[in-house]
Amino acid sequence: VPSELIDDFGRRVRYVRISVTDRCDFRCVYCMSEEMTFLPRAQVLTLEELGMVARAFVEMGVEKVRLTGGEPLVRRDIGRLVEDIGCLPGLRDFAMTTNGAGLVKHAHRLREAGLKRLNISLDTLDAERFRQLTRTGDLARVLDGIRAAKAAGFERIKLNAVVLKGRNDDEVVDLVDFARSEGLDISFIEEMPLGDVSDHSRAETFCSSDEVQDLIEQRYPLIPTTESTLGPSRYFRMGDSDSRVGFISPHSHNFCSTCNRVRVTVEGRLLLCLGNEHSVDLRAVLRRHPGDIDALKTAIVEALPLKPERHYFTTDGEVQVVRFMNMTGG
Ligand code: GTP
Ligand code: 5AD
Ligand code: SF4
Repeated sequence: VPSELIDDFGRRVRYVRISVTDRCDFRCVYCMSEEMTFLPRAQVLTLEELGMVARAFVEMGVEKVRLTGGEPLVRRDIGRLVEDIGCLPGLRDFAMTTNGAGLVKHAHRLREAGLKRLNISLDTLDAERFRQLTRTGDLARVLDGIRAAKAAGFERIKLNAVVLKGRNDDEVVDLVDFARSEGLDISFIEEMPLGDVSDHSRAETFCSSDEVQDLIEQRYPLIPTTESTLGPSRYFRMGDSDSRVGFISPHSHNFCSTCNRVRVTVEGRLLLCLGNEHSVDLRAVLRRHPGDIDALKTAIVEALPLKPERHYFTTDGEVQVVRFMNMTGG
């Protein structure tokens, strides 16, 4: 079993994103359709299985684990999984992406259990708009969650905002101001064509990172940096603040050539690329050889050549990947 995972394009896998549930308490318009069905329990990996997947990757040189969903905080006993992963030797960065609604309840415990970093989705500061974009979410609760995360001692909390023309692009500078005032980083994301979100028109709302950057630069000059969190964000600094502004631009600035990550869905499907369907069924291996970490590692190593060179997303509104974003948490 190798100590490093390197794909056929010479890219080293250092980052694994593990989805711990497909469920979510929100129904964001760009991520889910209003009526979703979720996986039955038997198809979902247990906490023990998820922990073993993380351990296999870390023992093969992965330095960063991010837990995603759906919404990871709706998974029962998530704190136990965080504890198991948090103490893996060799793990340098351990993070979670959340919608923030559960943070008042969970932030303290997560920090204690060894989680290092949080990315919190926040697309608008307007309560009515927040309700429209998330369909079920409550802005005040998320803002309380952000404050709870700060109070729990999380450092470099990052906000994620998907920018949609005509829906929240007029709030870009307000969101930067909020990040600055709270001492947070913020990344602006170009929407990706995953899942048929029929009552939301992606072609009409697409907004490129360059447009977002122009809006911000009318207020704050942005200084490019080479800082990296091992993710896709290109970071900028504002001379007068500690906050960083990032852009995640799968359409306008393709970052596939430096891709360092793979994903595991909560069904145990190892996805080699967010924008393609190539996958390997790790659940079958886990359940055929319970507790056999070498079998799991072998399956992962054998899957690597399936990692495609890049995604082929377009912005014309056509669904390119049938699976919804909640299967991978992005
Ligand atoms: P950091 O660890 O803070 O750098 O976070 P991250 O950007 O890696 O993770 P996060 O969960 O905050 O994801 C932000 C956005 O980036 C989401 O919309 C993800 O879907 C997107 N993203 C992350 N990795 C990839 C990738 O490999 N390809 C594409 N196309 N999008 C990605
Ligand atoms: N395109 C881009 N980003 C998306 N997210 C969810 N769906 C999409 C999409 N279709 C974002 C969420 C969250 C992150 C994990 O991915 O807002 O911040
Ligand atoms: Fe890597 Fe696929 Fe993401 Fe491109 S879309 S950066 S190849 S995971």
